[in-house]
Amino acid sequence: MHISRCTVGIGLLQAIRAAHAQTAIASTTETPAPTTATVTVVDVPTATATTGAYFPPVGSIEPDYSAEGLDELWNVIGSVEAPPFTTTVTPTASVALPSPPPPLYPAFFAPEPKDILPQYKFPAGFKYGVATAAYQVEGAVKDEGKGPTMWDWASRQPGGVADNTTGDIVDLNYYLYKMDTARVAALGLNTHSFSVSWSRILPYGAADSPVNQEGVDHYSDVIDTHLEYGVEPVVTLFHWDTPLALQAYYGGFTSPKIVDDFINYAKAVFSAYNGRVKTWYTFNEPRVFCEQIASYPFNVTYAAGVNTSTAPFHCAYYLLKAHAGAVKAFRAMNISGEIALKNDDFVGTPWRANNTDDAEAVERHAAFQIGIFSDPLYTTGDWPQIMKDTLPEEYLPRFTDEEKADLLGSADFYAIDSYRSWFVSAPDNGVAACVSNTSDPNWPQCNLNMVYDAQAGWAAGVLSDPGTDWLGATPDGARELFNELNRRWPSPKIYVSEFGFSEPFENERTQLYEIKQDVARTNYYMTYLGEILQSIHEDGVPIAGIFAWAMIDNAEWGSGISTKFGIQHVNYTTLERTYKRSAIALSDFWAAHQS
Ligand SMILES: *[C@@H]1O[C@H](CO)[C@@H](O)[C@H](O)[C@H]1NC(C)=O
Ligand SMILES: *[C@@H]1O[C@H](CO)[C@@H](O)[C@H](O)[C@H]1NC(C)=O
Ligand SMILES: *[C@@H]1O[C@H](CO)[C@@H](O)[C@H](O)[C@H]1NC(C)=O
Ligand SMILES: *[C@@H]1O[C@H](CO)[C@@H](O)[C@H](O)[C@H]1NC(C)=O
Ligand SMILES: *[C@@H]1O[C@H](CO)[C@@H](O)[C@H](O)[C@H]1NC(C)=O
Ligand SMILES: *[C@@H]1O[C@H](CO)[C@@H](O)[C@H](O)[C@H]1NC(C)=O
Ligand SMILES: *[C@@H]1O[C@H](CO)[C@@H](O)[C@H](O)[C@H]1NC(C)=O
Repeated sequence: MHISRCTVGIGLLQAIRAAHAQTAIASTTETPAPTTATVTVVDVPTATATTGAYFPPVGSIEPDYSAEGLDELWNVIGSVEAPPFTTTVTPTASVALPSPPPPLYPAFFAPEPKDILPQYKFPAGFKYGVATAAYQVEGAVKDEGKGPTMWDWASRQPGGVADNTTGDIVDLNYYLYKMDTARVAALGLNTHSFSVSWSRILPYGAADSPVNQEGVDHYSDVIDTHLEYGVEPVVTLFHWDTPLALQAYYGGFTSPKIVDDFINYAKAVFSAYNGRVKTWYTFNEPRVFCEQIASYPFNVTYAAGVNTSTAPFHCAYYLLKAHAGAVKAFRAMNISGEIALKNDDFVGTPWRANNTDDAEAVERHAAFQIGIFSDPLYTTGDWPQIMKDTLPEEYLPRFTDEEKADLLGSADFYAIDSYRSWFVSAPDNGVAACVSNTSDPNWPQCNLNMVYDAQAGWAAGVLSDPGTDWLGATPDGARELFNELNRRWPSPKIYVSEFGFSEPFENERTQLYEIKQDVARTNYYMTYLGEILQSIHEDGVPIAGIFAWAMIDNAEWGSGISTKFGIQHVNYTTLERTYKRSAIALSDFWAAHQS
């Protein structure tokens, strides 16, 4: 792992330039400002190898839904590593939990999970589970008729992934899902949020292309397995793995053609699994996804007329239309259950108390990071005013009245992938100077994430693994965040659809006893869950579910497998899973706090 260190001058308001603060993203654009003084920050391995990303010119591959057409798409990827076995493994023995770990600390310092806020219980029907995503855990990328995805491609571009991890095998959850589900059930958790891979259902992606029955049958059995084990399946339609075909044919989410193709895919999934799935998401973290495609290596894959500056906003526009169309179909088809999308990020607090520029920066952060996908669904049907005031129409296409009507109300609940909550400051030249200058490096967001306080430079939380410098454990900010979400984008129900932590330097540990002792992650979960109970009981926030990211170690996008988020370790030689302390703590917490 490449880690570069530099120090940041706290007097300079510079810190981490994070207008594009990204959650779980391929190549972060955050660049720490090299100056003087006391605070050490770390720089993730970014996609510095910027030569050599190759994608066929968009439009140069004609739709061809034959075996040869599929080969042509796979040729863009090159060779794929075959998994060690290609049949679904049926667990032979029931899963036994290990004997309980000894307490981490004396009780006067930190209570055991069961003793945290014992007066509070989770409400009836609470979803208490884990989360994963298809690309990150499945492996078997070329098996059973699947078409290639853009992450199969991106992971092979020079510098695309820090440790060169591809999705070819990773956890091989594609064949090990029965065991993985049994292991979640053994912990007593009741829900697993996972994603369906579009290109397993439709290898060529497009609405007029054939459905791959093997892919449909696979997820059907995944869902049935969950139901058998009493682990509720929650399904996300799109977790960033765009069918490569659609990128090659027309530029994916930078083209209006994506809208009908997504709606067609959504309908296929709805009708296949209707009645067995009750909670659905159209999109995972669209804000991060649409920023991701503006960065290397995706920046060579656009529809004509789109560039890196406009791509995130064109993507947001088409993606929202795809979402609204899918929800309209969901309702027209009388699909059972509830549907929304997964927002991400935090509102933030002003870095310098009582500084009006920092207060304005917080509003810009809220608008660009969350409002972009929340205002249209929950409050106005339209983009946040701050975005419309900043971005001309060539950047941010405007919605018609009909589109606004389709968007408003197109979510049955609110979901937030809520990992952290940091300070937000104005850029050092001020918000106004930045907003009026399209050449400003912080335009159009014109706000910065600050990971330490403005007085003495104390870190705002517990530091994560250096491979994920966007993340810190900031439980102190959680209640305020949930209150802000509830106030700004009211909804009858909120899911904390992902939260989790990368244990610092876990990848450098070689012995199981070291790996299982994930103290920072355990503390993260225990403190956040305590804050969530207080949000529910003291603030009246309608939180109805939590989903720990992640069920198992997995391919963390641009960080690969060297940054770990699992509550279970995966031995990448044997594919064996091992519960970490955090898994046992989550289990104990639930046992003591379920109603
Ligand atoms: C990733 O692959 C590139 C190109 O083959 C190589 O130069 C680099 O050392 C590899 N990085 C790691 C961490 O294996
Ligand atoms: C894509 O991004 C890389 C890295 O920033 C850059 O070197 C390259 O020129 C970009 N390519 C295009 C076509 O914008
Ligand atoms: C919709 O489905 C429910 C069962 O899920 C059924 O009771 C109801 O009659 C259906 N409504 C229509 C209009 O098909
Ligand atoms: C901010 O303003 C409030 C109310 O005017 C005041 O009580 C507080 O001391 C101020 N804080 C700082 C750090 O100036
Ligand atoms: C990107 O496109 C926008 C809108 O057409 C244009 O204003 C801007 O100059 C373009 N940026 C680049 C780097 O070409
Ligand atoms: C706009 O920003 C660019 C890049 O920072 C800078 O060179 C230029 O002077 C700024 N223009 C004005 C009018 O401030
Ligand atoms: C992973 O499995 C290999 C092969 O059995 C073994 O040598 C290695 O020690 C295991 N790693 C851990 C952390 O247990």
